[in-house]
Amino acid sequence: MKRLTITRPDDWHLHLRNGDILKTVIPHTAQRFARAIVMPNLKPPVTSVARASSYRQEILNALPENADFTPLMTLYLTAATTQEDIKAAAASGIVYGFKLYPAGATTNSDAGVSQVKAIYPLFEALQNVDMPLLIHGEVTDSKTDIFDRERLFIERTLIDIVRQFPELRIVFEHATTRDAIDFVTASSSFVASTITPQHLLYNRNALLAGGIRPHHYCLPILKREDHRLALVKAATSGNPKFFLGTDSAPHQTHLKENACGCAGCYSAHAGIELYAEAFEQAEALDKLEGFASFFGPDFYRLPRNADKLTLVKTEWR
Ligand code: DOR
Ligand code: ZN
Repeated sequence: MKRLTITRPDDWHLHLRNGDILKTVIPHTAQRFARAIVMPNLKPPVTSVARASSYRQEILNALPENADFTPLMTLYLTAATTQEDIKAAAASGIVYGFKLYPAGATTNSDAGVSQVKAIYPLFEALQNVDMPLLIHGEVTDSKTDIFDRERLFIERTLIDIVRQFPELRIVFEHATTRDAIDFVTASSSFVASTITPQHLLYNRNALLAGGIRPHHYCLPILKREDHRLALVKAATSGNPKFFLGTDSAPHQTHLKENACGCAGCYSAHAGIELYAEAFEQAEALDKLEGFASFFGPDFYRLPRNADKLTLVKTEWR
């Protein structure tokens, strides 16, 4: 297929940063996606409606002229988050979720939560106001093998959260394992998952075989091929629990190409194109529109976009 027209997609997991990086990256997202869930892991993290509001304004100011793009803000859960913060977010009209980073799990997660059970009252409050909880699902103890961190988070933490808060909408962000796919598939309609383009297109060989390729290093880390196949199957299945979230995460070149390179794959410049490639490889381009444009807004209870986007297949490096 040479051309494909779909309802304009949204990105349900995006890092935009702030300052100069924001100005550089926002045109890429706004050219493709109508809306994006904007991650709050700035330094310092976005923990209040006031901060989310000024960050939102900074994003709007950085947009190219005539861009048609709406940032959907999130707040960063910390041990200091209060019930009032959650009520204020629900009333704000600009906040669409709270992000749980286990402390130390990834880039700018030091302010995250080290005792998840201690914030169960906050999950209760989120459930009461019907505000989604977005989870970076990896255990963080340094003794755990990096390839097992997602699976063990599900066993040790996620299963209990889902059991205790059955009507809390949860997005298990950037699923990378067959275990995550199986868990989300078997859960109620309150539990969904985003899937990134890098985890659909690559397995860990792309990171490690024939030389270390730091631009493929992200967290959760790329897994083995059987996990990738499970992700592709889920994304192309038409199951509305799985939708698009690029996790595009810009970092400066010298910090990626470094003896201790940082985590994050930048993909916003080809956000929807990379998914089209993965879906075409799976002979499932007919399933791209649901994954990219319908299931996300349905889960977040927002209207689907009315405008269209046409993809044209061309050679590109
Ligand atoms: O690889 C990652 N980079 N994973 C995350 O969870 C965060 C992100 C970032 O902010 O750079
Ligand atoms: Zn992320």
